[in-house]
Amino acid sequence: MCGIVAYVGPKDAAPILLEGLQRLEYRGYDSAGLAVVNGKSLKMRKVKGRVADLAEAVPARFKGACGIGHTRWATHGVPSDVNAHPHLDGEGRIAVVHNGIIENADALRQRLEGEGVTFESETDTEVLCHLIARTVKETDSLDDAVRRALKSVVGTYGIAVVDAQRPGEIVVARNGSPIVLGIGEKEMFAASDVAALVRYTRQVVHLEDGELAVLRADGFHTFTSDARETAKEPFTVDWDTGHYDNGGYEHYLLKEISEQPDTVARTLRGRIDDRFHIAHLGGLNMDARETRSFRRVKIIGCGSAYYSGQIGAQLIEELARIPADAEPASEFRYRNPVVEPDTLYVAISQSGETYDTLAAVQELKRKGGRVLGIVNTVGSAIARECDGGLYLHAGPEVSVASTKAFTSTAVSFALLALHLARVRDLSPADGRRICEGLRRLPEQIEQILKLDEQIKTLAEKYAQAPSMMFVGRVRGYPVAREGAQKLKEISYVHAEAYPASELKHGPLALINPDMPTVAIVPDDELLDKNLTTLGEIRARSGRILMIGHRTADAADDCVVVPKNETELDPILLTIPLQLFAYHAAVALGRDVDRPRNLAKSVTVE
Ligand code: G6P
Repeated sequence: MCGIVAYVGPKDAAPILLEGLQRLEYRGYDSAGLAVVNGKSLKMRKVKGRVADLAEAVPARFKGACGIGHTRWATHGVPSDVNAHPHLDGEGRIAVVHNGIIENADALRQRLEGEGVTFESETDTEVLCHLIARTVKETDSLDDAVRRALKSVVGTYGIAVVDAQRPGEIVVARNGSPIVLGIGEKEMFAASDVAALVRYTRQVVHLEDGELAVLRADGFHTFTSDARETAKEPFTVDWDTGHYDNGGYEHYLLKEISEQPDTVARTLRGRIDDRFHIAHLGGLNMDARETRSFRRVKIIGCGSAYYSGQIGAQLIEELARIPADAEPASEFRYRNPVVEPDTLYVAISQSGETYDTLAAVQELKRKGGRVLGIVNTVGSAIARECDGGLYLHAGPEVSVASTKAFTSTAVSFALLALHLARVRDLSPADGRRICEGLRRLPEQIEQILKLDEQIKTLAEKYAQAPSMMFVGRVRGYPVAREGAQKLKEISYVHAEAYPASELKHGPLALINPDMPTVAIVPDDELLDKNLTTLGEIRARSGRILMIGHRTADAADDCVVVPKNETELDPILLTIPLQLFAYHAAVALGRDVDRPRNLAKSVTVE
């Protein structure tokens, strides 16, 4: 959620840090700051607000070739200049930026205050800073001081630290919050996200939990919290700055919605085998015998990733006839789950860094579970932790609300379901039907995107409603949930999703002319049941916007999308809901790409 950038090399750090922070702004954004070391003095600026406000606050002459920067999403203490990072010790010698949460911050603060330390801010980070400042006086090395100080800390962190007494040196550490090193020509970078690095280098190294690194212009070395050196293999990132530009669109969200014909094609590329009508998924690291051995599939993820997992569970159950279900990773990890040897676990994450999902994967691994990852960010923590998996290849997703990663995840599940199904009972003919359906998706998404004007008009009409209901049956239900999620996330219109069949068991009481319903009504075996539900809503004077494959008299408005194979239709039915939420948010004047209170990647508990 918060963003970290660090630089050491021959150039002035401040412009590099500001540029990096701008690229990270989507992760967290209530305040920003930076500190540079020049000679043996530390200069620092921080402000409540956006990176642009920080850029204005940094004077033209802000020399220093070694520095750290931060964008903050408040956890401890309100957004304010004082609570913004970096935090300094009392003498202005040590500066720290931090992502994560220090759980024993209150106890440490009391102890330090008892020893005469005065605190400036309400943050947990300042505790870290004073701890390091005390330790650095006892040892001659900053990395040793950071390592020792962290020993008394309970919680999660990604941190970057500079010491005015050691210009040209940055120490970073990771525990639960990502830190990536970027290797340049006689310069080194570090960040919480590769987005901040790709303008300067594609050679990166991910730190593991419990690992620290010292960065100098001429290189880096890494070690564990027990001071044991570790060996790291750099890898090349294939995303460049172009992937992070808004491509002339007014919002990243619209760009990412519009990219879906391409991103879905990329997820499918090289993965469909027309000879046997199977999916080629080399990254699963499982042979046919093992693939056959699973008797159950359990899918975990958070937010939209979880909803795409629900689509995935239905695909797996329908095609492979293996019992499958999805659960929020955040719930799963706290309920001491029973981990079975014949269950295949699948973790989903766009960022690959969501803390709840990562912690759930770690719990599964600890109990001997077999975990696959469906992840967008190559080399991310969840991808590294899993036994195998599929990358989405959707390119970076910048807007907070997930769109292209959602569809690519659902497509990945179709591939995984096909794979699991074709080593079981799915016939070659049905395999071929699914393969052909998958190939039609990009073109059909293109057709749905052409409905933009119609959906915009509808969104403007319905956006004025104080509250909306989203309903769908079986395959349509996760689509309804994701539709409601998109709308509430970015337009702040209250939206509830319900299985259409459950409507009469409670929420029907809410239906009135002020509570319109978005109904997901595919042409499948449940069509008649869904049309009956529309009649029930209509009878209570409820307005209806139907998303489906035909029009219906009971609906006030209909968006008709192209039909694919019944199992794959949920993927296409999602796209109009993305456009609907987008246009509703624009009509209401919302900050579409940066909705209030939310962050793109939640790397804290
Ligand atoms: C946050 C975002 C959601 C996202 C979820 C999971 O809550 O606001 O849009 O779906 O995290 O993110 P992940 O990166 O794990 O897919």
